[in-house]
Amino acid sequence: MISVKQDVSTNPTSARNAQWGGRFAAGPAAIMRDINASLGFDRRLWRHDIAGSRAHATMLAHVGILSELDHEAIQSGLDAIAAEIESGQFVFDPVLEDIHMAIESRLTTRIGEAGRRLHTARSRNDQVATDFRLWLRDAIDGLTTQTHALMRALTTRAAEHAATPMPGFTHLQTAQPITFGHHLLAYVEMLARDVGRLADGRARLNESPLGAAALAGTGFPIDRTATAAALGFARPMANSIDAVSARDFALEFLATAAIAAIHLSRLAEEIILWCSAPFSFVTLSDAFTTGSSIMPQKRNPDAAELIRAKTGRISGNLLALLTVMKGLPLAYAKDMQEDKEPVFDTADAWSLSLAAMEGMVHDMQPNLSRLREAASQGFSTATDLADWLVRTLHLAFRDAHHITGRIVARAEALNCPLEALPLAEMQAIHPDIDARVLSVLSLDASLASRASYGGTAPNQVAAQAAAWLARLAPDHAK
Ligand code: ARG
Repeated sequence: MISVKQDVSTNPTSARNAQWGGRFAAGPAAIMRDINASLGFDRRLWRHDIAGSRAHATMLAHVGILSELDHEAIQSGLDAIAAEIESGQFVFDPVLEDIHMAIESRLTTRIGEAGRRLHTARSRNDQVATDFRLWLRDAIDGLTTQTHALMRALTTRAAEHAATPMPGFTHLQTAQPITFGHHLLAYVEMLARDVGRLADGRARLNESPLGAAALAGTGFPIDRTATAAALGFARPMANSIDAVSARDFALEFLATAAIAAIHLSRLAEEIILWCSAPFSFVTLSDAFTTGSSIMPQKRNPDAAELIRAKTGRISGNLLALLTVMKGLPLAYAKDMQEDKEPVFDTADAWSLSLAAMEGMVHDMQPNLSRLREAASQGFSTATDLADWLVRTLHLAFRDAHHITGRIVARAEALNCPLEALPLAEMQAIHPDIDARVLSVLSLDASLASRASYGGTAPNQVAAQAAAWLARLAPDHAK
């Protein structure tokens, strides 16, 4: 049993938060301060908090609520604070609870009275919602760029390996030959949908809560359209209660991230399988593997394993915030302060996973002879034989399937691949089979035949890769 010594004493009045302390005779208990404080993590919002304050102050001056003198003092005070934070000189004092109070308090220390006027016609409720949307919008842009970079890496490798055979699996059993390039492009398609989901969420979150104030709007003659435009939002949110209560923008991001993490996890899992000795499909260099402290022969794909594992926290973060929001009455409640850590953690884990995956995709070397050998095993061209029986002998597919099954059984008994099975053996099962069949049983013939749109034929794959590379050219990617 671990016992944590907690200081439940009441702090001296000097520890009172001056921003809301007017009605309070004494400061909060230290434990209250600890549970209440978010500065430890929401300091990450500082740039966006300052941007929001700048837009608010400019608007207040414009409509005549702030004097031009006060406005100038506020802007230069915020400049100085930004420089302090940037250079690491800013003191983040937990007594000040959160980033909004920390910056406002510092502003007042620096510029005096004018700093105390900034919070007119605003509440921390609309302030935090604004900051968080701005932060997430930037995070979405960064993750979009990173996802594009990973797509580019995959597509480059796919173009190199448009004709490299590998076994295609269903149920992790050899199914039909495919190309390595085709397999990689499947992930490019998934990642493109992740980017689409990010863009959808970005468009929905890009509305400004600023000016909703605590929940009901304000009696001051503010201009919400002006602050929305200054911050790059498409419009002000139309309902002040919704503006401070909504966190579905964060949930949508977390859901998008959870799906994207699952895509990355599936690719990570495949890389782990591919570089295990029984597969030996690809090799990762020392740059993306670690050694074992006891087994000198080992090269462990730790980066891929960690990407696979990050899915746990990323999907957990979605459930965490869903649970926080469930049943919360409107409007703001302090529960909502718990929205930030899951989002920050998810954005960090996703970003790191994308970077590591991009590195691995560039790094991995497919083992061409092993891939070709594996692609020919497991009677992978059996479907081609059945299709030939349909096309050339005009058998019904079900009959062709049955005859092929018998031929495969015979080849298995003789321990020989389909393309090496003597013609006479096949004719013993169906007398009309002739030498023309041999041309469809080879790996390359099988690959080349799958030229339907979206199929694995090398020319299809090369065309798809070329189309993606053009779409992903840095100035094109969107
Ligand atoms: N730190 C708070 C949060 O993240 C800011 C909003 C506080 N609002 C309030 N009414 N206490 O949610």
